Amino acid sequence: MTMRWLKVMLLSMTTAMAAHGLVSKSALGTMPDGTAVDLYTLKSDGIEASIMTYGARVVSIKTADRAGTMSNVVLGYSSLDAYLADKTTYFGAIVGRYGNRIALGKFSLNGHQYQVPVNNNANSLHGGTLGFDKLVWQGREITDGVEMTLVSKDGDQGYPGTLTVHVRYTVHHNALRIDYVVSTDKPTVVNLTNHSYFNLSADNKPILNEELMLPADQYTPVDAGLIPTGVLAPVEGTPFDFRKSTVIGARIHDDNEQLKIAGGYDHNWVLRGKNGEVKTAARVYDPASGRVLTVTTTEPGVQFYSGNFLDGAKFGKAQEGHVKNSGLCLETQHFPDSPNHPKFPTTELKPGETRHSTTTFTFSTQAK
Ligand code: BGC
Repeated sequence: MTMRWLKVMLLSMTTAMAAHGLVSKSALGTMPDGTAVDLYTLKSDGIEASIMTYGARVVSIKTADRAGTMSNVVLGYSSLDAYLADKTTYFGAIVGRYGNRIALGKFSLNGHQYQVPVNNNANSLHGGTLGFDKLVWQGREITDGVEMTLVSKDGDQGYPGTLTVHVRYTVHHNALRIDYVVSTDKPTVVNLTNHSYFNLSADNKPILNEELMLPADQYTPVDAGLIPTGVLAPVEGTPFDFRKSTVIGARIHDDNEQLKIAGGYDHNWVLRGKNGEVKTAARVYDPASGRVLTVTTTEPGVQFYSGNFLDGAKFGKAQEGHVKNSGLCLETQHFPDSPNHPKFPTTELKPGETRHSTTTFTFSTQAK
């Protein structure tokens, strides 16, 4: 074999290796009860993502800007203690058992009434007071990533059925993929999502100059408590029309009742395409850095939350730097309060069924 061929072979081998994730594990700290919290770092040729076992949270995602500089594009804290002190932002977490809201924390299933904790005004948010975001998951290295496992017992936060949840984070070139696999031993409701706050400029400043595209013709308007009214309203002619890529701040202060209720965007968009099939959920472009984030999912909806309740002062040191609108969430999901809206795609899960859902965050850059 000639030297030239040897070089070509070695080069393609290294590229192939880098396309796969290199996974490493380190100790991050301990919970107040002494439980160890680990950090898994997944690295491919285009991305480096760190995930911790506390809340199965994405702690950082490093991707390249237009000039090739790698920076962290998600909000987070530098210490475990800061994460523990913050009960309301859900930075990077897997939220569950029911992501987003359930009206008054009440629903019925097969003739049984259930009451889950009310922790957001009159409603239940993100699984209750001790949701999946605040529990330590079991981490296990897998090819290209990490699998996080949680068993939520029958009655946990008032929900029926022992739920077994596997969330797999894997990296492939410039993408972070999340696979959710869930099963139960009694009928229950499930709505899992990832609550990362993206800031493609990687600068903690408001994301209002970033441009967003949401391929959705309808959204679910909400009442004063951010519970869907049940109507699927057309986005046409409203500040909720992101079918063409639009600067996020362009209409956020419009005189619009829905924007006023939420203090900005905090709504569920009804994605085109079939529930269960992979489709584009969102595309964000940051003109400053050139970074582009494309989100694809099998879920029927996406909650675009413009970080309206972030408040740098709220927790003293804990939220330092994370000012209002300094990050945006694209929470792929079933619609909020689905258990009380029979016409929404169902969130019910029965014994013997396995629910599998996938969301991928792919990063690229765009020229000016
Ligand atoms: C909700 C917001 C909430 C935030 C928690 C989002 O998923 O839609 O209303 O404030 O999570 O920080």
